[in-house]
Amino acid sequence: MPDGETATPSRRAMLGLAACAARSAAFGYAPIARAEPAAGGLGALAAAKGLMFGASFAVQELDKPTGALYAEIYRRDAAIITTEIELKLHELRRRPGPIDFSGSDRFFDFATANGLLARGHTLIWHDYLPAWIKALPPKEAGALLEDHVAQVMRRYRGRAHSYDVVNEPIAPWDRLPDNLRAGPFLSALGEHYITRSFELARAADPGARLVLNEAQMEAETPRGLEFRASFLALLKRLKARGTPIDAIGFQSHLAAGTAYDFRRFADYIAGIADLGYDIYLTELDVDDHLLSGDIARRDDHVARLYRAYLGAVLKVPAVKLLTLWQLADSASWLQHLTGPTRRRPARPLLYDAEFVRKPAWHAVAEALLDMPAR
Ligand code: XIL
Repeated sequence: MPDGETATPSRRAMLGLAACAARSAAFGYAPIARAEPAAGGLGALAAAKGLMFGASFAVQELDKPTGALYAEIYRRDAAIITTEIELKLHELRRRPGPIDFSGSDRFFDFATANGLLARGHTLIWHDYLPAWIKALPPKEAGALLEDHVAQVMRRYRGRAHSYDVVNEPIAPWDRLPDNLRAGPFLSALGEHYITRSFELARAADPGARLVLNEAQMEAETPRGLEFRASFLALLKRLKARGTPIDAIGFQSHLAAGTAYDFRRFADYIAGIADLGYDIYLTELDVDDHLLSGDIARRDDHVARLYRAYLGAVLKVPAVKLLTLWQLADSASWLQHLTGPTRRRPARPLLYDAEFVRKPAWHAVAEALLDMPAR
């Protein structure tokens, strides 16, 4: 955050935002207000309501010519940042032997130097694994899990706000019992790999909040409803075993053109919260690859989807954290997806390639202004 700026948005900024919200409410629809950038940015707006706001952060972006601009939008808008790739097994353990902490150390150092909270994503995941781990016999994969969770969390003990301890445990297409996702850790320990990972995490850093993170539950589609049912059943089994989970992470990767009923989804996450968990929205972005029209039309559609989603889910008091999956379009993982409908740069986030705020930034600002305080 630039020197001299207050941590909370100035009264003028808040009044400016309030006027925008009132105007939009008066018309009965939600035109995306051009909210004046609050002094403290989106993080301060969220903090004023008791919500943590931020985004995933990739240290390699700092080494690009736009590195200073990239860092600046996080200082302005984020209160918390998430490791995009630095804490994944592929980055830490490209080959057998000692863990390479160079990338993750750089991430935590950036967070500390800029007064940002830090989220570790993700300790145990089926994806983004080096070949040597995928090839491990079950017994050795189980031993690796024991060593990995403990080593990583002991290194950053006291420095991480929270960890996505296990990511994406559900995969109906793997056709395994309870729709569990295949992977070396499930092969090693069965479903117990999840409970064991959380037990190790709790022991390694009792001060960190422990999160079970999942995707694909936001859509009002047969696949989305299947994910919700399978995930809820898994969570009830984990709870019955006393698994030390503090929060449930909903990745929130939205896509224009998908069927949604955000009010029903908000009811679902409220039901999860009733089981005794905080709710974290962990990887929000809006995929615009199926949208037609010029940039202005696409950006407005994306902004409206942010506004509609956040307007529904931020009404749930248990939602305590909202992090996007990057802040700037140029750094989005969606730029690297390929296919016949992906022939132009993706525009899923809040800042364009020149790091100028887009309508989506204003939509998020308006949603934060409108949300009830925690
Ligand atoms: C993605 C990163 O953004 C990419 O840079 C990387 O190549 C692959 O992983 N859900 C998740 C994230 O939980 O870990 C994924 O992140 C995006 C989907």
